[in-house]
This record gives sequence, structure tokens and C-alpha cells, in this order.
Amino acid sequence: MKKIVITGGLGYIGTELCKLYSGEAWHKNIVVVDSRFVSERVKQLRDWGIDFKQGDILNKDFMYEILKDADIVYHFAGITDVAYTKSEENGQSELITKVGIDGSKIVMDCVPDTCKILFPSTHVVYEGFNKTVYNIEENEPTCAQLTYSTGKVQTELDLQNSGKNYVILRLASVYGYSTDTMRIGIMPNLFSKITSQNGTIKLFSGGVQLKSLVPLIDVARCFKFMSERDDIKNQTFHLSKENMTVKEVAELCKQINPKLTLIETDDEIPNLGYTISNKKLLETGFEFRYDLKQCLTEMITNWSKKDIRPELEYTVQGGKEYIDDRGKISNYELTEPINMIGYIESKKGTVRANHYHPVQEQKCLLIKGKYVSVIKDLSNPKSQTQTQTIQEGDIAIIKPNVAHTMVFLEDSIFLNLVRGEREHENYGVTHTIPYKLVNEKLRVNLIKQFS
Ligand SMILES: NC(=O)c1ccc[n+]([C@@H]2O[C@H](COP(=O)([O-])OP(=O)(O)OC[C@H]3O[C@@H](n4cnc5c(N)ncnc54)[C@H](O)[C@@H]3O)[C@@H](O)[C@H]2O)c1
Repeated sequence: MKKIVITGGLGYIGTELCKLYSGEAWHKNIVVVDSRFVSERVKQLRDWGIDFKQGDILNKDFMYEILKDADIVYHFAGITDVAYTKSEENGQSELITKVGIDGSKIVMDCVPDTCKILFPSTHVVYEGFNKTVYNIEENEPTCAQLTYSTGKVQTELDLQNSGKNYVILRLASVYGYSTDTMRIGIMPNLFSKITSQNGTIKLFSGGVQLKSLVPLIDVARCFKFMSERDDIKNQTFHLSKENMTVKEVAELCKQINPKLTLIETDDEIPNLGYTISNKKLLETGFEFRYDLKQCLTEMITNWSKKDIRPELEYTVQGGKEYIDDRGKISNYELTEPINMIGYIESKKGTVRANHYHPVQEQKCLLIKGKYVSVIKDLSNPKSQTQTQTIQEGDIAIIKPNVAHTMVFLEDSIFLNLVRGEREHENYGVTHTIPYKLVNEKLRVNLIKQFS
């Protein structure tokens, strides 16, 4: 079985790569190594069948046990919360160098000769240019200045001298939505955050600085692409999708949310920026799938204030339909991930629910049949009972703390889509509290009225 190791796999890029590998984890031995322990992320890896080892890449014995029989290593572990100028570089330099250079040497030393190492270097290895340079190609000599990029250059050299099979990708600034591992300091991500808060972006020196940018998911895709191409060995590539000025990125944000304010200032910038060329990369056949506007929109939408629907209960029908001779496919988009589906059959004339959920939103997809939904807002003592019929194909969504009852007009089947627990012994205590909304007399009346 192929063994794939991802160091720093709980990080921003590692998380995205793990998603790509989740579909293969059942027939590959995939191991994530990270010094952090992030509960949700570790659970997700375990659920996919990906192994997780918490530890430090500087611990050689620990790393040897993991790497001695590896076929592919994505070496993402590194210190990334780093200074942007020499004066900001205080006590952190030693750790950046240790993890960056020494940690990478340990990885090279521990893997067998047959192993392929995929290493993320950075476009910042060109930070020393004091004039604008466009489309820098891979053979351009580096001019790193700060500890972070100097370390990356050293690891590039160490890999070239290691005699191991490697691919180095010099990444542009990586942007895109992620969950707990979000790198919010990267310019497009930071601008999206400010935009989602209707804030103000200050464009130093008018925002003329040039940046090379690349979408997060394409970065993960490109690493995987490089690992699978046996013909690509001992090579360095620049991984960049867009070349834009800071001002152009900010203006895209403003298009997405016009409430954003842009202010141009005279503040100095360290350099006018530079761009890296993706010509060599594209010649391999790699194709980008995502772009900046799409990713900015996703981040800004996810972080912006949402208009919550005012109704106590509303229904949603399937969308994005696909119909052919075999029948119909329709898709339902949910507002939150669910972890449980209840399958429930009910006979004509019967009653279910007569309760409320203090925390959970109720989501029922009626697959077959018809029922009268009776609801009442428990947060408002003056609220009236409301009724509506729910039809086949509807998802009926009811707010928490709204008492609800179903009176079935036909033999029915529905799926109860649940986020959270529904332990039977907690009925009446946590997830579900009884509330008699429909008694026998009302049941009979409702059936008469709606039949
Ligand atoms: N995101 C970018 O824009 C970008 C650009 C160029 C290069 N890179 C490089 O790509 C790699 C991954 O970047 P990212 O954005 O995912 O960073 P990240 O900070 O989100 O992830 C790095 C991970 O490495 C882990 N780690 C740090 N020190 C460790 C140690 N000693 N032992 C084990 N694990 C350790 C951290 O816990 C973290 O989960 C880094 O090497 C970074 O320098 C990133």
C-alpha cells in the first residue's frame, strides 16, 4: 500500500490537500504529522481513515519511524507567522531557521531514496529586488533577505544536493476560504475580512504594489498533480495564477461589497512588488480551476452578516434539477452540516412531534405523502397557532423554540435532517421538549378541514 506523509497537515494548505486525499484514504496509507492538535480536524482525518501523529518534525527518531517507508512526502510543516520587514524580526528567527532548515534536513535524511519529496518554497525568495520585475522565471537567481525566505532558499539547495527525488513549488501568496486554519494575514484574505465587516482598506502608496497570487485549492491540486507525475523529477516550478496590484484586489472587493471604503495613502511600501511566471508550470499540463473573484466572493459571503428568514416555518424545494428519461434529480442546499438522518414513516390520520427543540433547527424532507404542519412561537406569549400543508418534495424548516406538530393527511415518509444529538434518553431534557400543541379534538378538526 502506498504511504503518503503530510507534515504540517493541520495547516492551511495541508488541510486542503487532506480533503483531496479523503477519497483515497481507504486504499492508501496516509499519515498527517503536526505539532498542533486541533480536535475537529483530527476527528475529520480519523473519520476519513487518515492517520494522525502529533509531534515535532525536529524529533528525528519520531520522524524516522514515520518516514522510513514513505513513498511520497508533502513537507508543509514550518513557521509561517513571520515578519515582513527586517526590523520586525525579533526573537522568532531562531525557530524559523530551526524548523525550516533543520526540520527539512531531518525529512530528507529519514526518507528512503525511492521517496518523492514535495516542498513549498515561496515567491518571497525574490524579495530583494529593488525595482519592479515582471514574470520572473525559475532560473532567475534568488535574492532572499529575511530569515523565512533565506531558510527556504537553503532548503531548496539542500534538496538539490540531497540525491533525493524532489519537486519544489515556489508559491505565490495563497488565498481562499478555509476553516480553523485560515491564514487571515495574507492580503486577499485580510481584504475579504475587512470587506465582510464593511470596513476600510488603506492602500499604502496608492496600492501600486504588484503581487502574484494563487488560489488555495489549486495549490493543493498542484501538489498532488506533481506527486503523481513520475516524469517530473528534481524540478522547481513557480506556482502563481494571477498577477495584480494591491489596488486591483481591493477594487474587486469593493465590487463585491460596495459598502467597503478604500483610502489611498502615501505610506511607504518596502518595494514595488514583482511577479513570478507560471509558464513552466502550464507547460506540464496543469490547469487552474479557481480564480480570485470567485474566492473573494466566497470569503466575503461566508463572513458577512446574513439576513435570517423571518418566518417561523418555511419550505424549500429541490433546485438545480436534472431531468431525463429515467426521471428527475433535484438538489437541496442546507444551511448547516447535518450529522444524522431520521427515516420516519407515518400512517394517515396520525400525529407526530407535539414538541419543540431548544437549540436545533428542525428540517424535514417529505418524500411521500402530505401533512398539516401546526406551529407556535414559544418566545412570544401572544403568538397565534399557525397551520400550513407540507407537500411531497418540500423540506419544511422550523426555527428552534417553535413548538410544532405534524398531522398526517396521507400515509407519509419523511427524512428528519438533524445537526446534533437525538439520544432517546435525552427526550424531554436536552434536544426535544414535549409541548402539546394538537389535542385529539384539534386533530380531528384539522383532518376534516384539510382533507
Ligand atoms: N500560504 C502561503 O501563502 C504560502 C506561501 C509560500 C509558502 N508556503 C509554505 O507552505 C507551507 C504550509 O503553509 P501553510 O500556509 O499551510 O501554513 P500553516 O502555518 O497554516 O501550516 C503549517 C503547519 O505546520 C505545523 N508545524 C509548525 N512547526 C512544526 C513542527 N516543528 N513540527 C510539526 N509541525 C509543525 C503547524 O502546526 C501548522 O499546522 C509552509 O512551509 C509555508 O512556508 C505557504
